[in-house]
Amino acid sequence: MNVGIDKINFFVPPYYIDMVDLAHAREVDPNKFTIGIGQDQMAVSKKTQDIVTFAASAAKEILEPEDLQAIDMVIVGTESGIDESKASAVVLHRLLGVQPFARSFEIKEACYGATAGIQFAKTHIQANPESKVLVIASDIARYGLRSGGEPTQGAGAVAMLLTANPRILTFENDNLMLTQDIYDFWRPLGHAYPMVDGHLSNQVYIDSFKKVWQAHCERNQTSISDYAAISFHIPYTKMGKKALLAVFADEVETEQERVMARYEESIVYSRRIGNLYTGSLYLGLISLLENSSHLSAGDRIGLFSYGSGAVSEFFSGRLVAGYQNQLNKEAHTQLLDQRQKLSIEEYEAIFTDSLEIDQDAAFSDDLPYSIREIKNTIRYYKES
Ligand code: CAA
Repeated sequence: MNVGIDKINFFVPPYYIDMVDLAHAREVDPNKFTIGIGQDQMAVSKKTQDIVTFAASAAKEILEPEDLQAIDMVIVGTESGIDESKASAVVLHRLLGVQPFARSFEIKEACYGATAGIQFAKTHIQANPESKVLVIASDIARYGLRSGGEPTQGAGAVAMLLTANPRILTFENDNLMLTQDIYDFWRPLGHAYPMVDGHLSNQVYIDSFKKVWQAHCERNQTSISDYAAISFHIPYTKMGKKALLAVFADEVETEQERVMARYEESIVYSRRIGNLYTGSLYLGLISLLENSSHLSAGDRIGLFSYGSGAVSEFFSGRLVAGYQNQLNKEAHTQLLDQRQKLSIEEYEAIFTDSLEIDQDAAFSDDLPYSIREIKNTIRYYKES
């Protein structure tokens, strides 16, 4: 039975900063951020927004009444969860109006969580073909003002509806997973921001891609020519490029150029958003499908998922005839174009204005979903 992605959508907050402005403020050559890191803009979120509001906004756009009746599992992958115990998926289940007889939970493994969710969903649908599973990747990527990771921040969510006989991508059964106990990026309990060994994380990312790619090709008897494109986890857009160049250096030049051209199409949105942690790989997939004119039905797309710590997975899917009809490039371009540009002073003020969860407070915000009140440490949401 074919199982895969039937619908997919992303949401990002309505504020961003320009990376050239950030470079000037940090007294860095702007080329370091725009070429060396590969980012043009960076999404910024206010304290009235969290992973639940991003996730609800991303999912609401694609869910119809019949989906809400058929969904029997809601899975959230996140690195920036809002509770150590209660899953954000439970809140989302209510906010979105999913029928009650469903399983809702959250998965954590840095930027890998949503990929684990997809694999769980796939097995569930194979056993229950009528089921639909909502998998959401939602995060706020923050390292701190003036930190090394500052230019690689971002925020937002990707929502995916997984079904049997999907209309976008059917998954192959070719997953290759790798676990390595490494401290390249982690967030101890009580820490607002992750700890990161940036240069080690770059190296582990590249080594992980090399290992899963080689093992994947050996096990499945495949090579680069079997892939129309490869989508990467994109912490910043130069990262996937570095992995591609390191791993495909021995391939013939035409193949390297072909894969790199598709990679460029997969980073169109990330260049304007930054890191989504769990959602980055899937934002890259949306970007590829919406911005490439070189793909067609039956094409095989490789997906490289990487979560620091470190767990990585390479898997693939085939494009379904008519997949273009399930996308929404116009709405996504509009979402990005209509955002408000912040000055660096405004960004810093928003950054330091953090949500005090132990203090009761009320807020108002124009966005469809936002935190309207904190009472007794509980977040109450304004619903669209
Ligand atoms: N013009 C053009 N390029 C320039 C330049 C200039 N004037 N100045 C510097 N550069 C280039 C450098 O040569 C370098 O390119 P290469 O990596 O290709 O050599 C690039 O800009 C970055 O320069 P540095 O390495 O000196 O930058 P840095 O020390 O400030 O750190 C970083 C960069 C490690 C990515 C840091 O931003 C960071 O720690 N980010 C967070 C961690 C991260 O994203 N890791 C990615 C892998 S882990 C992962 O994927 C999980 C996840 O989502 C977190």
